[in-house]
Amino acid sequence: MAGRIPQHFIDDLLARINIVDVIDGRVKLKRAGKNYSGLCPFHKEKSPSFSVSPDKQFYYCFGCGAGGNALGFLMEYDRLNFPEAVEELAKLAGIDVPREEGRNQDPQREQQLKRQFEALEQASSFFQQQLRQSSERERAVNYLKQRGLSGQIAAAFEIGYAPPGWDNLLTHFNAVDNATELLEQSGMVIHNEEKDSHYDRFRDRIMFPIRDVRGRVLGFGGRVLGDEKPKYLNSPETPTFHKGRELYGLYEARKHSNQLDRLLIVEGYMDVVSLAQHGIHWSVATLGTATTAQHLERLFKLVPEVIFCFDGDQAGRTAALRALHTTLPVIKDGQEARFLFLPDGEDPDTLVRKEGETAFGQRVTQALPLSEFFFKSLTEEADLSSMDGRARFSNTALPLIQSMQPGLLKQMMMDRICEITGLSLEQLSSVIDLHQVTQPNNPPPAAVEQYTPAPPRYEEPSGPDSYSTAAPRRKQQSRHLVNQAISILLHQPNLAAQAPKSAEFTLVDEPNISVLIHLLEYLQDTPGSSLGTLLVDWQDDEARRADLMLLNEISHLDPVLGDTNAAHLLQETLNRILARRQEALMDQLLKKSRQSPLTEEEKQTLRQLVLNQHS
Ligand code: GTP
Ligand code: MN
Repeated sequence: MAGRIPQHFIDDLLARINIVDVIDGRVKLKRAGKNYSGLCPFHKEKSPSFSVSPDKQFYYCFGCGAGGNALGFLMEYDRLNFPEAVEELAKLAGIDVPREEGRNQDPQREQQLKRQFEALEQASSFFQQQLRQSSERERAVNYLKQRGLSGQIAAAFEIGYAPPGWDNLLTHFNAVDNATELLEQSGMVIHNEEKDSHYDRFRDRIMFPIRDVRGRVLGFGGRVLGDEKPKYLNSPETPTFHKGRELYGLYEARKHSNQLDRLLIVEGYMDVVSLAQHGIHWSVATLGTATTAQHLERLFKLVPEVIFCFDGDQAGRTAALRALHTTLPVIKDGQEARFLFLPDGEDPDTLVRKEGETAFGQRVTQALPLSEFFFKSLTEEADLSSMDGRARFSNTALPLIQSMQPGLLKQMMMDRICEITGLSLEQLSSVIDLHQVTQPNNPPPAAVEQYTPAPPRYEEPSGPDSYSTAAPRRKQQSRHLVNQAISILLHQPNLAAQAPKSAEFTLVDEPNISVLIHLLEYLQDTPGSSLGTLLVDWQDDEARRADLMLLNEISHLDPVLGDTNAAHLLQETLNRILARRQEALMDQLLKKSRQSPLTEEEKQTLRQLVLNQHS
């Protein structure tokens, strides 16, 4: 395998080419002011919302949110991986891509892997060819026909046939040197230790090649034609094939459409193929295992919505609960997971054959959202009429919700628990230790006087001399903004309720920002809080005592504002702090995208930032 592409080359390449030229050859662009616009190639649209900025060397679609630099565009549009996109871009620039010897790369292992992938690809071709040429081809083809599959769909999934016999594959590979070893390593042949001989793993089976997202064959699933056992045989785990990571049909679904907006997770190979046969080209199957967090993370990088599909029986419900537990810690705001239960005795294959694409699609539309399934399954067995039952319910539900990523969904589900149990957050927090809920357990005694201000570690905002002259201008202003916001909140703590959530400020990199965050957090999350309770609570809290000193200083230094002004000024001040953060974050991401591909999460952040800038 070729060595690493030097980073400086990628930087130079991106600096040398113009994104407008790259895109213009592929999408019809029109000048629109500073930018160019056109019809987005990544989603269907009639009026142009796709925009290319020569300044930022960045493209963005206001319709579907696609966005990135020239390399990202080529990766998406031409379906290339990163090195391939670099190659393509270099070709456009008329230069060769240099390669360096990677330090942690093992050329021998790379070579070995490459040969293993080649062998698997070749095996796949062999099985496909056997579907046409084997003496048993009629049985195999009839089986596929009887399962309702057209030749076209079988070809799209590159379905093949391993004929009966112990050494068809071995013989086919005979000419290649150390083929046996290769086939053994990739799980296609089995070593009989006693006789020290080898034989084909897959015999007289319909073969489903399992590909990774790049289309490389990693292994196979093989189904018997009759009722023999085992019904399915899968390639064993190898260093390149992990069943907990790969999904059957993902490559084919992506190949079919580059505008996937959801994926259906089903159980079997045949389900995926049969759904595609009926026009549903957006399903994937786990490889005989339960859905893992790794699977979900992979899927959510590609689509915002996944729908789990389960049998209607008890086993299906158990599997659904398991999937729920796996999904909760993974899912983020902006992503959706839904649960589809099929009638007893049906699987997606039988059902879609029976009722067709439209009716099946209808079921998918009606699948239960995660939160609904969550509450439905948890309340079904709970006795919510007794206090005891409500406590038991909370005990099951709360840890699950606590495992979730912070966000609106989590918040909403917490609220729903309060609703169902009729308990407040504070009451619930005495049932279980909820660290995000601060409990004002000790009612504020008249202890405010106990507080003695310490020497200031605060630099007066209005005095220019107190700033280090080396500090960048932007920071000075921000510091002023942060202090201003704190000052307003100290005088009007009730305004915190209308302010953005404290968590929004976590990435702001400015002096004193942590104090502002703690202040907002306290005022927003502590029911019944006031400056009085804050003084008492923070005094008792080692971690907050230092913040308290700063607050004290600020409260002395800044003037008291009138009511109407205060609300407005606070809003403006906080917005300006957030805008600065967004700007800095955007710069940072754009800079990074010039050096290496952004992760899906970073891309999403960038899209959001660009969108915010324009809204
Ligand atoms: P068809 O009978 O072809 O429609 O298969 P199905 O997908 O309806 O079968 P089932 O629901 O029994 O199995 C679902 C998935 O579980 C299959 O696609 C396989 O991945 C796996 N599986 C089923 N049977 C076996 C087996 O005997 N051994 C192994 N290892 N996996 C199996
Ligand atoms: Mn089936």
